[in-house]
Amino acid sequence: MIETLETLAEKIKGCTKCELSHTRTRAVPGVGNPHAKLVIIGEAPGRDEDLQGEPFVGAAGQLLTKILAAIGFDRDDVFITNILKCRPPNNRNPLPHEIECCEPYLHAQLRALRPDLVCALGTFAAQTLLRTDEKISKLRGRFHQYQEVPLLATFHPAYLLRNPNMKRLVWEDMQMLRARYDELLLT
Ligand code: URA
Repeated sequence: MIETLETLAEKIKGCTKCELSHTRTRAVPGVGNPHAKLVIIGEAPGRDEDLQGEPFVGAAGQLLTKILAAIGFDRDDVFITNILKCRPPNNRNPLPHEIECCEPYLHAQLRALRPDLVCALGTFAAQTLLRTDEKISKLRGRFHQYQEVPLLATFHPAYLLRNPNMKRLVWEDMQMLRARYDELLLT
């Protein structure tokens, strides 16, 4: 059975599968176009996202919005979500157990969305979706497959805020993403 995005969002908001449910303000299921051809997947909500219930609304989110605009997308054109739907305290890294509890929601969202392209932002998204331990610096810059769907990995916008010299590489990755998107629309 394929659950709808709305049903999944309700389940996520009521989820108590892991201890992050005790510390979250709001769960953050995802936002955007339910018919999006491109889905963007980050790591986990931060402080602003936890307060607002929407992914990528803080500083890293503002940079993501600009990156998307640079290749001609509004936030409403795509669907944006995270590996974890609840904020880890003090924005620490997701724990394996938390990823294990939360991952089924993401896979179910992707079954509902049936995107043509996926973009994984940062180590946790790329490694979780591709089931690999390889570093993001090795994974970025090329297409992989998530199930049947082409997946491009790139650096996380929060990493770019700390390492602005890496923006050039993300720019190259985004050009690849846009080119593949345009190709897919032609077929
Ligand atoms: N970083 C993420 O990975 N996701 C968000 O939603 C916000 C910051």
